[in-house]
Amino acid sequence: MKNKIIAGNWKMNKLQSQAKQLIEELKPLVKDTENTVIICVPYTDLATAVELTAGSNIYVGAQNCHWKESGAYTGEIAPSMLKEAGVEYVIIGHSERRTYFGETDATVLARTTAALEAGLKPIVCIGETLEERNSGKMEEVLERQIRKGFETIQKQQLADIVVAYEPVWAIGTGVTATDQQAQDAIAFCRSVFAEMYDKQTADQLYIQYGGSMNDSNAESLLGMPDIDGGLIGGASLVAQKFAAVVNAYKK
Ligand code: PGA
Repeated sequence: MKNKIIAGNWKMNKLQSQAKQLIEELKPLVKDTENTVIICVPYTDLATAVELTAGSNIYVGAQNCHWKESGAYTGEIAPSMLKEAGVEYVIIGHSERRTYFGETDATVLARTTAALEAGLKPIVCIGETLEERNSGKMEEVLERQIRKGFETIQKQQLADIVVAYEPVWAIGTGVTATDQQAQDAIAFCRSVFAEMYDKQTADQLYIQYGGSMNDSNAESLLGMPDIDGGLIGGASLVAQKFAAVVNAYKK
């Protein structure tokens, strides 16, 4: 199995002073891991995070970026702006953006492409709603999100992309997918990537699980063969909890 990629998604939380405190607490707690550690922070915390994580094993990510280089797009941020700020990763197409901000598979593809061009590593989120799962449409939805969201992404670009499978019903609800549900869905996603690209490329692709992952369920989720890491919301806001997830898996 690969080492894991554990990313914290702070969402719209943490003032700069709080971010500083959290990062300072986190640094010594995760310094010995062989897993990759990422914190995806609000824009206003990026400079603080980049400065405080310099020389540590923590990478900094943003939570969205636009597909244009510059221009009249009030409220948006260009990938090159993030890159210049020292950011390495960017979450694209989180379900909250799909639900509240009109993100589609097409805009996900556009943002992912622009992020890659700027030298950022996208964390591309996919996942089904409860209604879709209960009506037997999970695989159809995941397959559509992957085929459309990666339509023009080249095979060699996948090495710089992390995929996050996040069932919408598990995000922020405290209802985690069972180990087997997460494993099965991710194995299915991997099979779609294998059809689109090839098996070796699909096997090498990092696919995380996200949705109420925390210090008590991380070890067993991360022990599943297809789960290559986690995208952690709520539990990433507390240093000890996030560190416990990071340290839950050793190869
Ligand atoms: P959660 O969020 O861990 O709070 O469920 C995960 C996410 O939205 O990335």
